[in-house]
Amino acid sequence: MKNLKWWQKTAVYQIYPKSFMDTTGKGTGDLRGITSKLDYLQKLGVGAIWLTPIYPSPMIDNGYDISDYTAIDSSYGTMADFDELIDEAKARNIKIVMDLVYNHTSDKHAWFLESKSSRDNPKADWYIWRDEKTNWRSIFGGSAWEFCPERGQYYLHTFATQQPDLNWENPEVRRALFDAANFWLKKGVGGFRVDAITYIKKPAEFKDGESDGKDGLVSVHIMTAATKGILDFLHEFKREVFDGHDIFTVAEANGVAAEDLPKWVGSDGVFDMLFEFSHVNLSLKDGEIWCRPTKWKLTELKQAIANSQTATKNNGWYPIFFENHDKPRSVNHFLPKASDPIKAAKILGTILLTMRGTPFIYEGQELGMTNVAWDSIEKYNDISSRGQYEIALNEGFSKEKALEFVHFFSRDNARTPMQWNSSENAGFTAGKPWLPIHDDYKICNAATEDADKNSVLNYFRKLNAFRANSEILLFGDYEELLRDDENIFAFARAVENKKIYVLANFTLNEVTFPTEILGQSKFILGNYTAHNKGVLKPLEVVLYKEATS
Ligand code: NOJ
Repeated sequence: MKNLKWWQKTAVYQIYPKSFMDTTGKGTGDLRGITSKLDYLQKLGVGAIWLTPIYPSPMIDNGYDISDYTAIDSSYGTMADFDELIDEAKARNIKIVMDLVYNHTSDKHAWFLESKSSRDNPKADWYIWRDEKTNWRSIFGGSAWEFCPERGQYYLHTFATQQPDLNWENPEVRRALFDAANFWLKKGVGGFRVDAITYIKKPAEFKDGESDGKDGLVSVHIMTAATKGILDFLHEFKREVFDGHDIFTVAEANGVAAEDLPKWVGSDGVFDMLFEFSHVNLSLKDGEIWCRPTKWKLTELKQAIANSQTATKNNGWYPIFFENHDKPRSVNHFLPKASDPIKAAKILGTILLTMRGTPFIYEGQELGMTNVAWDSIEKYNDISSRGQYEIALNEGFSKEKALEFVHFFSRDNARTPMQWNSSENAGFTAGKPWLPIHDDYKICNAATEDADKNSVLNYFRKLNAFRANSEILLFGDYEELLRDDENIFAFARAVENKKIYVLANFTLNEVTFPTEILGQSKFILGNYTAHNKGVLKPLEVVLYKEATS
């Protein structure tokens, strides 16, 4: 088989550790919980696990506010638990991938405590301090500047007030960050997911921008994302950390223009893959983590995906995803309201596991987990949901409407605890779960689905195993089909004349398609027990394979 790297041939599984598996009864997940589920992950067929941050943190943003880059938060366990996880995962041919959050630290990090203490301490210049603030809005809402009485100055925070931005212009800061990443490499991690990296370079001049909201502020994203000169920092990062290791890097890159992609990924770039969000942000304002539900068309989704497939055809590699810890559950987001969640989850699972690139499965996606809709904002933990709720009220929406937006887009939708079985608390914890368990857990859980050959879980396992052995799915070209069709998502994967076709009906109606597009191929797999060529039942997805291949 063509010369692909290990991470191009396997699916990656994303774990939100706080919600994965609790072994102590405290109501939050831990590292031993992850280790106890490695057999489950091996059976699913994943070759790497991306852990969202497990470092010490005040948990204002659930770990994305880090107070020590080279230790483990005690709620997750100890460094010995981490070493055990690495070893046990290795024994199952699974690598552990760490999340590097290098745009900002927690305001409780020792570096910030020192930096804020005076204007002339050794770390005085490690963060972004200014005498005047600008009208920039932080990504979670409100001003991106916070006044610090000790210094009589403001500091910049792209995200929450408790997440001050680091000053990458300072070489000591960069050195400290690179050293921390190398610490984890020495432990044998298989790669890094790099958080919010497009924000690390700030413009030379800090000035007000034209407001994009009723608050008179402008999103910090518009003012700072992918600022010129950022690539110099990133090449240094690559040289000092990534080069020479058999790892993969995937960076969260909101704001990188399509024409600039070659500078960011691939042979001349910095990272192996970039998470870009055009296909999951179809109803989102530029740079925001939240949106008001607006309608999008299937052709827009197909176009966004086709663009990414084209952009990474000859350069770089695509991380395929429909879910992560910042997004609602894909079944709710992409399919009509009244959809059968099992059929819907299989549709998205099929596309995820048959496109070109490395599929990222987010915990619970393989079970078909769905959104929650709690009846008051107080029940939501997510800092972004709370901030955006306030923005909606300030913009004149009623409390009911603001809550409806939260239901639609809250990050807590993806953060409810993993559903392991039908016992109390879905087998996630013996204590009180930190977020309520979804009330569908008696049907939608790993144990029940393991025993059901038609479950979403067994479908993911089957397709993942099929993909791992299919040269067409691993590196075949991506060919768009039925591009203008608003009902059917269709494409082919091709290695010369060997082809696999995927067709998915995204509607609740029966639809037809011209059978000529399938050539001589034969039906091999789908989410209904029987299939009629030329017809797709509501939410039906099918795979066809060219007879000659
Ligand atoms: C992106 C992460 O995915 C998100 O969860 C976090 O809130 C922000 N970056 C800030 O680190």
